Amino acid sequence: MATFTERMALVSVLWLALCLSGSWAVDKSNFKTCDQSSFCKRQRALKPGESPYRVLLETMELTNTRLTLQLINDNNKVRLLLELYRLQGNITRVKINELKPLKPRYEVPDVLVREPPTEPLSVLSQDENGVVLSLGAESQRVIISARPFRLDIMEGHDVLMSLNSRGLLAFEHLRMRKDTFSYKVTSTVASVWDNIKRVFSSQAEPEAENKEGADSANQAEAGKEEEEKVEEGMWEETFKSHSDSKPNGPCAISLDFSLPGVEHVYGIPEHAEPLKLKTTDNGDPYRLYNLDVFQYELYNPMALYGAVPVMLAHNTKRTTGIFWLNAAETWVDISSNTAGKTVFGKMLDYVQGSSETPQTDVRWISESGIIDVFLMLGPTPKDVFSQYASLTGTQAFPPLSSLAYHQCRWNYNDQEDVRSVDAGFDEHDIPYDFIWLDIEHTDGKRYFTWDPHKFATPKEMLQGLQEKKRKMVAIVDPHIKVDNNYKIHNEIRSRGFYIKNKDGGDYEGWCWPGSAGYPDFTRADMRAWWASMFAYDQYEGTMENLYTWNDMNEPSVFNGPEVTMHKDAVHGSWEHRDVHNLYGLYVQMATAEGLIQRSGGVERPFVLTRAFFAGSQRYGAVWTGDNAAEWDHLKISIPMCLSLGLVGISFCGADVGGFFKSPSSELLVRWYQTGAYQPFFRAHAHLDTPRREPWLFGPENAALIREAVRQRYTFLPYWYQLFYQAYRTGEPVMRPLWVEYPQDPATFAVDDEFLIGRDLLVHPVTDEGSRGVTAYLPGKDEFWFDIHTFHKHNGAQNLYIPVTMSSIPVFQRGGSIIPRKLRVRRSSTCMEHDPYTLFVALNARRTAEGELYIDDGHTFNYEKKEFIHRRFSFANNVLSSVNLMPDAHFTTMSWIERVIVLGATKPSKITLKTADGEESQLEFEFDPSMSVLTIRKPGMNAGEDWNITFK
Ligand code: GLC
Repeated sequence: MATFTERMALVSVLWLALCLSGSWAVDKSNFKTCDQSSFCKRQRALKPGESPYRVLLETMELTNTRLTLQLINDNNKVRLLLELYRLQGNITRVKINELKPLKPRYEVPDVLVREPPTEPLSVLSQDENGVVLSLGAESQRVIISARPFRLDIMEGHDVLMSLNSRGLLAFEHLRMRKDTFSYKVTSTVASVWDNIKRVFSSQAEPEAENKEGADSANQAEAGKEEEEKVEEGMWEETFKSHSDSKPNGPCAISLDFSLPGVEHVYGIPEHAEPLKLKTTDNGDPYRLYNLDVFQYELYNPMALYGAVPVMLAHNTKRTTGIFWLNAAETWVDISSNTAGKTVFGKMLDYVQGSSETPQTDVRWISESGIIDVFLMLGPTPKDVFSQYASLTGTQAFPPLSSLAYHQCRWNYNDQEDVRSVDAGFDEHDIPYDFIWLDIEHTDGKRYFTWDPHKFATPKEMLQGLQEKKRKMVAIVDPHIKVDNNYKIHNEIRSRGFYIKNKDGGDYEGWCWPGSAGYPDFTRADMRAWWASMFAYDQYEGTMENLYTWNDMNEPSVFNGPEVTMHKDAVHGSWEHRDVHNLYGLYVQMATAEGLIQRSGGVERPFVLTRAFFAGSQRYGAVWTGDNAAEWDHLKISIPMCLSLGLVGISFCGADVGGFFKSPSSELLVRWYQTGAYQPFFRAHAHLDTPRREPWLFGPENAALIREAVRQRYTFLPYWYQLFYQAYRTGEPVMRPLWVEYPQDPATFAVDDEFLIGRDLLVHPVTDEGSRGVTAYLPGKDEFWFDIHTFHKHNGAQNLYIPVTMSSIPVFQRGGSIIPRKLRVRRSSTCMEHDPYTLFVALNARRTAEGELYIDDGHTFNYEKKEFIHRRFSFANNVLSSVNLMPDAHFTTMSWIERVIVLGATKPSKITLKTADGEESQLEFEFDPSMSVLTIRKPGMNAGEDWNITFK
């Protein structure tokens, strides 16, 4: 038998061999297909049109805001309780649980920011076929049909969404294991069982007042022990060498939703898939189960590191969303009656008058828990974002510096290495804000420690960075080395904070440190303790410019089933099965709390996580895990981050350069150019790859990379304002085109280009040897200005753009004003007081608008209204700056050093009027060939009122 160290060595050798050999393939046999996941297989085998569920209308109860009624499964007589709520902001919530479960079923805590406020419901009509409810002011109705159960939401004559219209509702009720009963019966067990049967029979007993003829048969069955078919996998399941003991037996749930008029659905990250989700009829459903997938494959519905059970549906009239609040393993099937039809086929249907409305049907299947679903009814994309934000919160407002460039690799080896990489950036005049340390910086993968030889004086190192106004991130993973000499382990063990295995001992698995325990982050007391470990006196060698990276928090267990934790591991009264997809969120939550607390609640945290769930946006940034230095991986970074943005997680990025393998210099440059326009901008590389600091690829490539990074820095004011907006509203920072052009079907599937906010359109070059790209410029009344050449293009058109290695096709929308800082320095903090240049791009109406947000960049003082938020507008030949938040206060030293008007005409004079009423003439230059007007040094303070008149 090989020792652990030998096995780990073997793993590393295999890893290295794979990296170097260039063979790239996920080992699919490590991960379950739907067929290998017994609950998925069972649920997927259900056929539409045979729903056994019926509404017991006489059980209906309506308080002002809560409707409840019972559903009965006519096959086994088990009853469910349905609750329906109308929530504020055009959301309807439907909950379905067992009426009397044997024991409570898991309901996801800590994801909703509050108990969502409700609105009154009223019954419009009711008869033996069902009930019609009115949903508030929106002229919406809910129609609940009784036989079989079905729920339709209508607005006017349109059906917005239907539940169980295909009859795929399934709810596996908790039950006692029968073989245990028949073979191992003892008198005590038998009496317990008798009691349980009593509970069961009352649950299964049809209501006396149910007069339907069919119920006489049911009544005959009442009290009789139901015959449940026991199928393989219901009471235990094996996968490879792992067995899952399933003490609760089968407890899966599933429900179908029909979306009439919808051909485009999005979301349910994380998958390495295009933006527009595909139908799953001919393969596996999309899987949501947080997993550490080694060498993940692209264009595949397999699960990845994070899971957000939120889907958006969009057509030219409306956007809606479905939020399935369940943290267990989940599969999502999508089918569509127009799938596979070509545009020609659709045209033919149209010409021949085929009346079939396009429709998308989805089915959600989860292994345990309850059905708790939020139907976000739009109608606009931005309404859906704010509806989802009202439930799960918005993007944490990050420190400004974290929006700048991050330099990472596994690993920067020692303090000298850090020092020389840091100096390299200065020498090559490339700005950066954060340098990162991966697992090797610790003392033997004991997190919260430093390698005593390689990082002997961490504070000195951090101080050195601080002097340059730079920062560091160090990794803290959630697996804890089992080692009696390691303080963190001893504390967690003695406090009983580890997750338990099914037999009650501390759960142990293999991860980077060898044998490791996994703290139970679902416990609030454990999280509070973890947070306290980030205090400067606990986490020695740290200071305020050190931030945190949480990795492997799916959790990754090298020797566990599917490289994760056994589902029958125990978190207090719940199984890991119930909470799995939440674990990563809790790790990041506790860590972010730690960083906040160490500063006495003053400083904003920055925490990067690999695993995530709905609500993770509240705690920091995510990245797309271990990608590869391949062109397709560069391409997929766009839809992967767009999908995350749609479900609230704006702070997303992919490892620039690709984690595995070695990029060609061309790929590396293109990746920097793309990453510079994505929210989280970090280069990262695997331990076994050759070094790839930007200057190692020759002066020409270094110059191209420098230029890409510098462009990022010039746009930091815009990024910062967009993150402020994301924090306020839940709107994604990086957005698909359809979000801004919701009535233009040409935008619906675009995912090789994207918008940053409303005003910047980016079409990165993601093909090897590319000589040109075709960008779709949306909006038929829109102008788009090339940010480099100032050329004006009209929308809506497909524009061919010839490219060279230095091209990054980016356009500013006519009608927008973007503040930039053009004096790029060593780090964003060094640029704090620098002046702004306003880029005013005029539209056809010769107007433009934009915003500027300024605060100290790193504290929570913005919550105390210590900020500047201004609106710039250009109309009637006057450019003005007004205060959007008069009761907020902050002073800035930054001034406006330049105004550049794109699409301008030549004025004869330009007059500035400042807040104190003083007027002065401004000097300007006009380039008639490009219609560009430049005002140099107008000199107003960026925080004050002023206007500039063009005559
Ligand atoms: C995981 C991470 C990767 C990191 C490595 C070592 O593979 O995804 O980013 O470098 O672990 O910590």
